[in-house]
Amino acid sequence: MPVPEPARGLRVALLGCGVVGTEVARMLLEQGTDLAARAGAPLELAGIAVRDASRPRDAAIPPALLTEDAESLVDGADIVVEVMGGTEPARALLLRAIEGGAAVVTANKALLAADGPTLYKAADSAGVDIYYEAAVAGAIPIVRPVRESLAGDHVRRVLGIVNGTTNYVLDQMATTGLDLDEAVKQAQDLGYAEADPTADVEGYDAAAKAAILASLAFHTRVSADDVAREGITGVTSADVAWAARTGHAVKLLAIAEQTGEGVSVRVHPALVPLEHPLAGVKGAFNAIFVEADAAGPLMFYGQGAGGRPTASAVLGDVVSAARHRVLGGKGPQESIYAARPLLPADAAVTRYQVRLLVADLPGVLAQVAGVVGDHGVSIDTVRQTGPSEGTAELLLTTHAAREASLAATIAAVRTLEPVREITSVLRVEG
Ligand code: NDP
Ligand code: HSE
Repeated sequence: MPVPEPARGLRVALLGCGVVGTEVARMLLEQGTDLAARAGAPLELAGIAVRDASRPRDAAIPPALLTEDAESLVDGADIVVEVMGGTEPARALLLRAIEGGAAVVTANKALLAADGPTLYKAADSAGVDIYYEAAVAGAIPIVRPVRESLAGDHVRRVLGIVNGTTNYVLDQMATTGLDLDEAVKQAQDLGYAEADPTADVEGYDAAAKAAILASLAFHTRVSADDVAREGITGVTSADVAWAARTGHAVKLLAIAEQTGEGVSVRVHPALVPLEHPLAGVKGAFNAIFVEADAAGPLMFYGQGAGGRPTASAVLGDVVSAARHRVLGGKGPQESIYAARPLLPADAAVTRYQVRLLVADLPGVLAQVAGVVGDHGVSIDTVRQTGPSEGTAELLLTTHAAREASLAATIAAVRTLEPVREITSVLRVEG
C-alpha cells in the first residue's frame, strides 16, 4: 500500500500575545501532534506579533517567534489569528491577510460589531474563511450553532448573559451584599474586569456580542450602534436585595428578538425570575438561551472569558479553517439577505418593576394606579412596605407594555404631588 504524502504544514500567524494569545500559542505548541491529525496537516506557528517584543513573556512563548512587524508576519501565512483587540491595526491586518489569501480567525467582537461586514465581504470575494467563535461568550460554542446548526430553523429570540465581569459583579452584590464599586474592584483583583472596566460595566462589550448574535440569528445586519444599551452602573445594593425578596435575580441581559415589525436588540439590567435557567448563572459564567420555531428552547452555558477557555474557541476555528485548506473549499459565509427593519429602543415590549416612595395618605395608591392606567399600562402586582415617618414604599410590577408607554408612565408618576422619589425602575425579563 502506498504511503500517503505528508501534508504540507500550514503557516499560522498569531497577532497578539496577551491573555488569549499566550494560551493560543501554548496550545498550538503543546498539542501540535493532535492538532495536525485533526486538521489534516501540521500547524506551524510562524510567529507572534506584539507591540513590544522585549517585554517578558510566559515561559511557553519562544522569544524567537515574537515580532513587532505584524505586516510581514501576515504575508505568506495560511491562517491568521487575530487576538490583539481594538479596531486598528487589527482591521487593516485582517484585510491584508484576506487579500493575501489567508483564512482568518478573530476574537475581536468590538471590530466585528463595528465593521464586520467589510471583513465578511472581503473574505467572500477572496474565497477564504473568516471565523470568530471566540468573539461571543468565550469558550461557549454559540456562533457556529446559530450560523450553521440553526440555519434551517427560524430563530425568534436570543436572550443571554454574555459578559462575565458584570455577571460576577451582580452575583457578588447578591450573595455578599457588596455595593457595585466594591464588587467591581473585586472583579478587577481577580482579573475578570479590565483596569478600565467601562466596556464591561457600561454594557459596550455585551452590546457588541448582541449585535453579532442578532446579525447571525436574523440574517440582518446589526451593528453595535444599533443596540439599545444600558450598563449596570445604576444598579444598587437595594435593587439586588429587593430582587431576591421578590423571587428574582438581577442580570445584565443581551436580548435580540424578532417580531412581525422587525428586529429589536438591546442590552440592559433586568430582573430574571429565580426559576428561569439564566437566574442560576453564577460568577463569571455566561449562558445564552435561544428560542427557535422548530428546535424550541436551547441553552448554551460555560466560561465566557479567560485566556484558556477563549483559546479553546480560537483553536476550534483554526482547525476548521485548516481542514478547509487541506480539503479545498471554505465554510459557510454570513448572510444578511433578510434585511429586517431594526426597531427603535422604545418599541420593545417588556415589563417593569418600579419602586417608589410616596406620602402615606389616603388615595395615594389610587392616584398612582390611575396614572399608570391612563397610559394604557396594566398593573400586575402592588406591594407596600412602611410607613416610616409618613412615607410608604410601593413596589409596582406591570404587565408587558411597550417601552415608550412605560417610560411615559414613569415620567407622569414622577410628577404626582404625593410621590417623593422613584427609587428604582427595572425591567423584568424571562
Ligand atoms: P490583551 O490586551 O491581553 O493582549 C493584546 C495583545 O495584542 C498583546 O500581546 C499586545 O502586545 C498585542 N497588541 C495590541 N496592539 C498591538 C499592535 N498595535 N501591534 C501589535 N501587537 C499589538 O488582550 P486579550 O488577550 O484579553 O484580548 C484579545 C482579544 O480577544 C480582544 O479582541 C478581546 O476582546 C478578545 N477576547 C478576550 C477575552 C478575554 O477573556 N480576555 C475573551 C474573549 C475575547 P503587547 O503584549 O506587546 O502589549
Ligand atoms: N470582558 C469580557 C467579559 C471578556 O467579562 O465577559 C470576554 O469578552
